Amino acid sequence: MRVFGAVRGLRAARTAWGRWRADAALSARGAERARVPGRAEGAEPAPGGGTVRFARSSLRVSVSAGGTVFWGWDGAEPEPSYALAGKAPEPDPRAVLEPDTDGGWRIVSERVTVAVSRHGAVEIRTPGGVMLRRDLPPRWWEPVGGGPARWAQRAEVPADARFFGLGGRSAGPRLRDGAYRLWNTDPKGRFGPGDDPLYFTMPVQYVVADAGTHLAFHDNTWDGLVTLAEGEEGAGSGHDRPGTVEVRMEGGPLRCWVVVGTPARVAHNWAALTGAPALPPAWALGPQHARWGFGDAAEVRRVVAGYRERGLPLSAVHLDIDHYDRHRVFTVDRERFPDLPGLARELREQGVRLVSIVDPAVVAEPGDPLYEEGRTAGAFVRDARGREVRGEVWPGECVFPDFTDPAVREWWGGLYEERLGQGFSGVWHDMNEPALLTPFGEPTLPRSARHALDGRGGDHREAHNVYGLLMARAGYEGLRRLRPGERPFLFTRAGWAGAQRYGGTWSGDVATGWPGLRASLSLVLGLGLCGVPYSGPDVGGFDGSPSPELFLRWFQLGAWLPLFRTHSALGAGRREPWEFGPEVLEHARVALAERERLRPYFLTLARLARMTGAPYVRPVWWGAPEDRALRDCEDAFLLGDGLLVAPVLHRGADRRAVRLPRGRWYDTATGEAYEGPGQVLLDAPLGRVPVLARAGAVLPVAGGDGGLALEVWAPAPGRTGGGLVVRDTGDGWEPAEIERYQSRLVEGRVVVERVTEEGTSEAGLPVRVRGV
Ligand code: GLC
Repeated sequence: MRVFGAVRGLRAARTAWGRWRADAALSARGAERARVPGRAEGAEPAPGGGTVRFARSSLRVSVSAGGTVFWGWDGAEPEPSYALAGKAPEPDPRAVLEPDTDGGWRIVSERVTVAVSRHGAVEIRTPGGVMLRRDLPPRWWEPVGGGPARWAQRAEVPADARFFGLGGRSAGPRLRDGAYRLWNTDPKGRFGPGDDPLYFTMPVQYVVADAGTHLAFHDNTWDGLVTLAEGEEGAGSGHDRPGTVEVRMEGGPLRCWVVVGTPARVAHNWAALTGAPALPPAWALGPQHARWGFGDAAEVRRVVAGYRERGLPLSAVHLDIDHYDRHRVFTVDRERFPDLPGLARELREQGVRLVSIVDPAVVAEPGDPLYEEGRTAGAFVRDARGREVRGEVWPGECVFPDFTDPAVREWWGGLYEERLGQGFSGVWHDMNEPALLTPFGEPTLPRSARHALDGRGGDHREAHNVYGLLMARAGYEGLRRLRPGERPFLFTRAGWAGAQRYGGTWSGDVATGWPGLRASLSLVLGLGLCGVPYSGPDVGGFDGSPSPELFLRWFQLGAWLPLFRTHSALGAGRREPWEFGPEVLEHARVALAERERLRPYFLTLARLARMTGAPYVRPVWWGAPEDRALRDCEDAFLLGDGLLVAPVLHRGADRRAVRLPRGRWYDTATGEAYEGPGQVLLDAPLGRVPVLARAGAVLPVAGGDGGLALEVWAPAPGRTGGGLVVRDTGDGWEPAEIERYQSRLVEGRVVVERVTEEGTSEAGLPVRVRGV
């Protein structure tokens, strides 16, 4: 009420009440019949595996050529799916279903063995026969009167396993015992590490154990709950208690993809399944500045001039809803921004792009051009009686495009022409869980709201979690049509498995405070493991005024993350680096300069993410998941293969412990060498956070003249090193080549060479050797 006054408050209350009434029938749980699969009765082979028939169900199992496993109960097939990038992968022709010893069945393939017990447990084993995961027979509850069946299934994982993933979670990156809901949710104003779920959930479990790493994806968009419990080892007694995962869904198919292998292989096969991450344009890897409430064009100019006058790099400025006319999407407040295209041109000449927020809600006001256009096209979500579903959002009472309808996606994508015409270079999708401003109840559309679901038809229970994903698809495809020569820049608050195909994401409204800083890192790491590599927090936190120290530490973390953007809420204070005193400004300047110097490395990581699926920002166990101490390390990360970043996440800290993976690492500030595995204590004065380089690393950096150069960290004696470089080929679609470099020690001297199929040759780039 406080936020929007009595009239809107009353309307919002009415909406909430109406949705509660509309959904009452759906929430009432009538009589149900429970079912389990029963005993195996036979099996029919099919490519990659086959179908095992049970007394009361059937199970399709298929192993693909890359070792990815699909299983689905009750006739569930891989398609249709909102997660898959295209067709399901080809089955492995050599994988055959054969009877197992105890009345069950198994499929043996090169990379994985799948065993189906006679009661319907599905066990995934390594080729060496070690158990990675065992999904126990599921249980369904079918409404006697018909309707979607709920289901639940427990899985066991090795006792030493650690859990990650489930999309963007604030309490990670390692997910502790507890229940995690699968329902994209706006936490209303701000969130800290205790808040769950958030905007971008995914039924993706990422499990790391001594036996191996695997990702299990339940391809089901419905509301659900994942309950995790780590196991316990019996200390040699032989009585391990396995870790368990219970998945409970309110409806939808029971089908799962299991991807196994090293983290790099899992990332690759997951991207093969759900799509390669969209490649951001090069400028989107530079520093960006946003604020809700710039107020007018003069203030935007003032901020940009502030960066310029102080010699601070700035790549983009983001305009929030306050630049719209009365908060209405695809409009401009012409009093405050009389000539937006002119402003965009002017900033562009200074190397600064404009990015626009885009909210899905459309004001439901007769005569409003967008509303009328959408209404004529039948674009808005309706209820079971055919009436538009309405809800309160920033512009007032709103309606919501049904992005699950291909025609609506096309219509909506075309609207971005207006944004491009205003001079915007990219879009920032917000409020697309979708989020309503409701005083009580769930802040989203009613569960009974109807959706097209690409011709299949259904309700919001099934469409909710993919609303943001499909809005991203609409925007991405629209931008590609409108400006085919340029790669779209898009990031979205809500999303689901596969959202990386269209762009990145950001933290959303992370609370200003040290816990929020920590949550920022958790989100980026978790989303990266789930296949969404481009993200970052609101640097400084969304909702309040950070202390100079907190702002600086946040800025220093942000400088090492893919999306490096300051942002703040209306009235939460400024985030310009010079607003926190001269000392912070000088330290922020150092962070910005280092980001710019490493821009070629970020560009390379962006390309590699697209080509290999590997996120830029990786947990420290990425190359050594068998190192248990690394699995439990949550306050540092790898940036690509070459760097380890240890941000400061605590107030007053001026040194910190850093856990190192095996091998030699150099403190990039002092050049000092440390040997991993192990823990070291490093200085972290206010001016910098510890960053270590892997011995032998070859990193593309901006040379003194601005051209490309190589920074090479001396290999440890008796070892070689190397690195990959992908050069900037502009913001279009030109293919890029991966260049491979090798470093070695020859008579105490560091030699760097380019490696091609023909052999090795001179690096051909300026080289700066460090660590000698
Ligand atoms: C939401 C967004 C935030 C934005 C605000 C106003 O809270 O998460 O980033 O500033 O809406 O548009």
